[in-house]
Amino acid sequence: MPDARPVEALTEAEAAEELTRLADDISAHDIRYYREEAPTVSDAEYDALKQRNAAIEARFPHLVRENSPSLRVGAARAEAFAPVEHGVPMLSLDNAFSDEDAREFDARVRRFLRLGEETVAYTAEPKIDGLSASLRYENGVFVQGATRGDGRVGEDVTENLKTIDQIPHRLRGRDFPGLIEIRGEVYFTHDDFAALNAAAEAAGQRTYVNPRNSASGSLRQIDPKITAQRPLRFFAYAWGLLSGPFAKTQWEALEALKAWGFRVTEQTARVEGIEGLMGAYANLERLRPKLGFDIDGVVYKVDRLDWQQRLGFVSRSPRWAVARKFPAEQARTVLKAIDLQVGRTGAVTPVARLEPVTVGGVVVVNATLHNADEIARKDIRIGDTVIVQRAGDVIPQVVGVAPEERPPGAELYGFPDHCPCPLKTPLARETTASGAETVVRRCTGEFACPYQRLEHLKHFVSRRAFDIAGLGEKQLAAFFEEGLIREPADIFRLGRDAAKLSELREREGYGEVSIANLRGAIEARRRIALDRFIYGLGIRHIGETTALCLARGYGSAGAFLSAMDKVADGDADAIAELDALDQIGAAVIEAARAYFAEDHNRRIVANLVEQLAIEDAERPRADSAVAGKTVVFTGALERLTRDEAKAQAEALGAKVASSVSRKTDIVVAGPGAGSKLKTAAELGVQVLTEDEWLSLIGAAR
Ligand code: IVH
Repeated sequence: MPDARPVEALTEAEAAEELTRLADDISAHDIRYYREEAPTVSDAEYDALKQRNAAIEARFPHLVRENSPSLRVGAARAEAFAPVEHGVPMLSLDNAFSDEDAREFDARVRRFLRLGEETVAYTAEPKIDGLSASLRYENGVFVQGATRGDGRVGEDVTENLKTIDQIPHRLRGRDFPGLIEIRGEVYFTHDDFAALNAAAEAAGQRTYVNPRNSASGSLRQIDPKITAQRPLRFFAYAWGLLSGPFAKTQWEALEALKAWGFRVTEQTARVEGIEGLMGAYANLERLRPKLGFDIDGVVYKVDRLDWQQRLGFVSRSPRWAVARKFPAEQARTVLKAIDLQVGRTGAVTPVARLEPVTVGGVVVVNATLHNADEIARKDIRIGDTVIVQRAGDVIPQVVGVAPEERPPGAELYGFPDHCPCPLKTPLARETTASGAETVVRRCTGEFACPYQRLEHLKHFVSRRAFDIAGLGEKQLAAFFEEGLIREPADIFRLGRDAAKLSELREREGYGEVSIANLRGAIEARRRIALDRFIYGLGIRHIGETTALCLARGYGSAGAFLSAMDKVADGDADAIAELDALDQIGAAVIEAARAYFAEDHNRRIVANLVEQLAIEDAERPRADSAVAGKTVVFTGALERLTRDEAKAQAEALGAKVASSVSRKTDIVVAGPGAGSKLKTAAELGVQVLTEDEWLSLIGAAR
């Protein structure tokens, strides 16, 4: 920063401008450092930028940007994507699981349309198992793309979608509506998925469980350059908002999508009546193993669009379409061994080690055997030929044996009565609150059991907890084994322990770059949001949502931890306070009590806290005049920046959306407001000037 002026000398406008520039620069450096492993500045230069940013913010606290580097935890938070309200919600489909359900669908359609004996034409399309996206084209130009999100509001992943070759930046021809949202599926082929995982594995990084998760992870990268390296693909199959009709049937619509430059599935068929539906299903079931990408069923859609219109929707799915799901795919293979896996909470699961077998295009080598009772009930023995099933997101499972193929001498499997850990703790059968025995066997060793410890650590570094990307499962297990990392605080100690790091450097496979990456990944998480911190502790029954409720309820790490100490000591007021929080029930209270009642847990938490800067959680105000309202800002604002206006509104409990719909409560319009203002008037939404808005929220303070 050769030309940096003293912070004291900056005017407010200059400060604002410099903060904008610093936010952009620092974020670009973060991306180059963490993601591309190719930093262009030294650590010292980078630190100087961060310090400058912090110094300006300290002098002008009201100018702290929403995307300020000082508020950011590394470069990987999903919150980085702006919300996008879909012009038309992205709905889901009703499922049909049998011929009977499919017949009922056809009957319902005919009844509703009062067609009597007339047959209905349908399209039968492969139901691609990826993640859906909505692409907005204005005058044929791709302007915005979003994930489905909750169906109403998705995440803005425009830049990432632009990296997908199969998504045209500009529609071909001229026969497209001026405004159209194209809907379709982003997915991976089996081959690309396998190659991606092999590369991740070789680099000691986390692998993805299935093509769908990997498509989702790849699309939702903060840095589009990473997405660009992933060979994602796209099939178009539907549309949302539309400025004018472009087809009379679904079949014609798919033809149009193809003509504009999209790929549509070539296995789609146009069929008549119930016989046609059955035939299309059988055909796709036959083709499924050869497609090279995952599909989990067939989508039947009424072909005529005027009929679709008449049929309309029931709650969240169309009456004119249904997803006929395939049964889970199965294959036979030999069970080589049964290992016990100890989970984070001590639950012991038997895992089948299998001769590799392809199930639905994916090679399976491990499958769950569920629990001891299941093994006994199905009489599964080592050496047996077993039937393995894989369905969608579910872990592959052993569903049965082929007794006729049992090798001679195969013995009954005796479930061990001790944990496989060096402590050999007896496995206890878990009982419910009423004393009934359950199928779960648990190792009672808790933190003394190295398996449970390691599982806790894996949870701690996982994506949704501390998200320490440089620490893959294998690496973590190796560091654990070597005694380098025994508890979460050790990870952060390692980040600053030059001696230990250089010791690592001497090990095979840890070059300068890996060490720098690891250190970077650890340091990026030293500052952490309170909810992630709580979730990362891995307390039973405290998932992400509960962690967020606790974070919002207590506000700061200090308040949370001192309340938990009191809860553990049985303090009635503290327990009542916890109980009063939204979504907190008896199971969470008991789990929190049990966790914090253990001295070693308290010690582990205290050690960890020492290493971290835990951000306070924002408590949304529920008592303001705009709490729970959806607000849209449009036009130029004169007294606030957009970011400030948004942050302020959200802190008061309002939701800020980017486009006006029936769900909008207030539109704040400044000079130059255009189409949004018009839409607001058409929909009868309240419109305020900036001053009116300020006095509304001012009155609320
Ligand atoms: S049509 C109004 N067609 O299935 C429904 N969806 O459960 C519009 N999907 O979220 C969706 N292949 O992600 C449609 N050929 C296809 C599809 C398909 C996969 C997915 C899509 C949707 C989900 C619905």
